[in-house]
Amino acid sequence: TKAIWLDVDPGHDDATAMMLALNLPNIRLMGISTVHGNASSHHTAMNAARCLFAFGGDELEHKVLVYPGASHPLILPAKHDPEIHGPDGLGGVEGLPSVDEPKVQALIARDEEGQVIRALEGMAGHIKRFWNDGKNNGELKEKVTIVSCGPMTNLALFISVYPELLEAVEEFVFMGGGVGLGNRSAVAEFNILCDPHAAQIVLDAPVPTVMIPLNVTHTAIFTREIHLRLLSPDFSRSNHLSGSSTPLPLPQPATPLRHTLSTLITFFSSAYVSTFGSQFASGPPLHDALTIAYVAFPELFPERKRYRVDVELSGVHTMGETVVDLYGYRDGEWNKFDDNDRQNWGREGKNCIVVQTLNVD
Ligand code: BDR
Ligand code: CA
Repeated sequence: TKAIWLDVDPGHDDATAMMLALNLPNIRLMGISTVHGNASSHHTAMNAARCLFAFGGDELEHKVLVYPGASHPLILPAKHDPEIHGPDGLGGVEGLPSVDEPKVQALIARDEEGQVIRALEGMAGHIKRFWNDGKNNGELKEKVTIVSCGPMTNLALFISVYPELLEAVEEFVFMGGGVGLGNRSAVAEFNILCDPHAAQIVLDAPVPTVMIPLNVTHTAIFTREIHLRLLSPDFSRSNHLSGSSTPLPLPQPATPLRHTLSTLITFFSSAYVSTFGSQFASGPPLHDALTIAYVAFPELFPERKRYRVDVELSGVHTMGETVVDLYGYRDGEWNKFDDNDRQNWGREGKNCIVVQTLNVD
């Protein structure tokens, strides 16, 4: 199993990432921190707790809690995405418990005096404990993978405040950026655009980073066929593949959880079509779910390559673009790195593994 820390801004696709992280047998989720992004930090923290309850977090052997994090980017003012996720971040999603329910509030981390434990403290505390417990003859047996599905403000703060804990981090896996592709400007992706300075700090850290860009997440489409299968457990694969072109009516939801997911996808689909047009007529991309899929099943992402990646922090038209040095223009600035070399990450070299394909078969 892989020990992970998950940072999210739920957010419809963040919710799907949480569902995977909570239910895949080879993932051990240590904790969830939340960040401003798709909605305000208050909403994203509450949404994470609502999803955690609904997706079975309460039944796990070890308790997983939500640690509310940064409400603003490091430098820029906060921006949210109500067109895609609704004003509270989980527009249109039915069947989640409400914010005021004690069972939801009980999933927000608190200290003995009842004070909320914030993201930075929660991450550091868990990772430090994991580090100390995991040491074998002074060597760490296992490290923590930090997964990011939103703007990377919490990660940047963690790197800056606790540099000594980076030794315990296996890698940062983030959904964000694009290779010549944007979704919130011609060239900038939302998570990076929200806090570009934080993203650059993560890329400069002395820890491997893995970027899952829009180019890949746009191939992970939740199609109508998959939606039908979600609602009808015995809807067979061969049926829909050989079926007629007449659209089938959606069957009745099989379980409350399937119903919740179905309403989530329905809202997300129409938000995508009304914002981006017919390019997404076949369904919305489940961006954030791919981070957990990558950690659990890296073989699903067969092509990935290490590059120098920087974030445009001052461009008039290109603020927030992830600049990926595909052709090695900057290789001369440092010794060549072997793509498999786990050393020399960060400020001075090829700093990021860019995932290039998802095997959807
Ligand atoms: C990213 O931005 C958010 O809208 C999604 O949750 C995802 O993390 C996609 O650009
Ligand atoms: Ca997100």
